Amino acid sequence: MRFYLGLATTFHDPALALVGPDGTLLFAEAAERFLQYKRAPNCEPDIPARVVALLQDYVPPGSELVVASTWGPQFTDFLRGQAGAGTFDLMALAAHTTALNCSFVPEQAERVFIADLHGAQERVGHGTLLALNQEARITGTAPRATLVEQRRYPHHLCHAAYGLWGSPFVEATALVVDGMGETGAAAIYRLQDGRITELRRHRGRGSLGFLYGLITDLAGFDQVKGEEWKIMGLAPYGNPDPDLSALLAPLCTIEAGRLRFAEAETIQAVAAEIRARRPADASETGWADLARCGQDFFGTLMDVLVAEAAALGPSDNLVIAGGCGLNSSYNGRVLGRSGFARLHVPSAPADDGNAVGAAWLAYAEDHPDWAGPPPALRPLSPYLGSRVSTTAMERLAEQEPRARHVGHAEATRAAAQILAAGGLGGWVQGRAEFGPRALGNRSILADPRPEGAKDALNAKVKYREAFRPFAPSILAEAGPDWFADYADSPYMERTLVWHEHVRARVPAVVHQDGTGRLQSVTPERNPAYAALIAAFADITGVPILLNTSFNVMGKPILHSAEDAILMFYTTGLDALVVEDWLVVK
Ligand SMILES: [Fe+2]
Repeated sequence: MRFYLGLATTFHDPALALVGPDGTLLFAEAAERFLQYKRAPNCEPDIPARVVALLQDYVPPGSELVVASTWGPQFTDFLRGQAGAGTFDLMALAAHTTALNCSFVPEQAERVFIADLHGAQERVGHGTLLALNQEARITGTAPRATLVEQRRYPHHLCHAAYGLWGSPFVEATALVVDGMGETGAAAIYRLQDGRITELRRHRGRGSLGFLYGLITDLAGFDQVKGEEWKIMGLAPYGNPDPDLSALLAPLCTIEAGRLRFAEAETIQAVAAEIRARRPADASETGWADLARCGQDFFGTLMDVLVAEAAALGPSDNLVIAGGCGLNSSYNGRVLGRSGFARLHVPSAPADDGNAVGAAWLAYAEDHPDWAGPPPALRPLSPYLGSRVSTTAMERLAEQEPRARHVGHAEATRAAAQILAAGGLGGWVQGRAEFGPRALGNRSILADPRPEGAKDALNAKVKYREAFRPFAPSILAEAGPDWFADYADSPYMERTLVWHEHVRARVPAVVHQDGTGRLQSVTPERNPAYAALIAAFADITGVPILLNTSFNVMGKPILHSAEDAILMFYTTGLDALVVEDWLVVK
């Protein structure tokens, strides 16, 4: 039997995915969860201890293993040649067809990016080999699986494969937009009859992802730390400023329906001019007007790429993938601004998701008739990661009478009551979400009705910037009653506008601009979470919970019951449910 291990091998957000002999995606998880190290910079996705456990869970002895990674072979060779020359030569990099977008990233940072990317490619598969040998040595048997082949796939194709084959569509057009691929920072693909073809790959040094990164830096945050999402949260607090917009405009112009990114000198001049205008009081909380203008500019430029996708691959169905797919504000508006009627953005559109794309591409190469997962498995479930063991809850219960094994029905009933009474609850169920959003399996939950719920949550648990919104989970059947132009949003991938007349009922999840980054919950997708929201609705009449990721600032989403118990006792959480265990303060 042959299994396919997909490895996301950018130096940030490494992840692994396992596809079985019938093409089923068995597992997907970012390394940050296992390591509890946010975004796991420069870590291998196939950490040996993790791989050993994964093989034991899913792969029978005597199997074959294909390792598939997420940057194309020519690019890997190029990076290797650069390293062989002793040092990275920025001029040589600039001459390469690849989009090394030094103009939008500080030069120092770019050197680090490239060196790290090279290191990540050189280590591909090492952890897996080590894991196979380690397990065999410990058990005194032959290796559980034989690594038969390593394959590398183009970066943007990996984004597209995960997005398209994980979508609910049988035919669709995918737009990939990120910081960089092998030749450029955007590409367009088409899904037809189960096969994926490339319609256009951008070439050259321009990058909408890194342009957004530059705006992130100028607004007072740090793109190297991946703080682009703060721009989205802050933008609604800012005002449109024609002067600022005029300053940003030369960074990328639109010529004959194509984006034309500025040269380095222009970018540096624009950045210097904007820095000089920065108000003194913008240092603490970020520069809201620039965030607003930057987000609007991003939307205008994305519209051009979406229009290009529509022209090259006419369809009702759009898939957006790549890191720019995390821009839920834009995602929520794109259908009204384009000819597409439906949108799918996968739960992990950034580079972690490529682990799935690479594994599926390897599978498809060996099975030319495969047309993606069967319809019943699409859109792809986001619940693809590890489960937690409840052993820690059992140990806790030996000392703490308020920790009890109550069963699912009672845990649900009790949690709904605690939340309806204004309590904050940690909620850990089933398999972890794949991607950056907690979707009701590793979540902190609260009543969205009190005006002060947001501040209370920030003060007691999350310790994060006040401008950042909290998101609602809503029973899908109630969606149209609460949102204008409601659309199914299984992964919190888009923000929609709340109906005017409901906003006062759930102020804690209504952002400054009247939007909410919603999760549509159904009993089919997540029975435990749907039951909890329904129980909360029975008490309150509101089929909505405030849902935020179960982590503290600076840490990834938790990975074990021990992590959950630690957070329960060191923050202001009132209750914790782990599977069918309940503990209250
Ligand atoms: Fe990417």
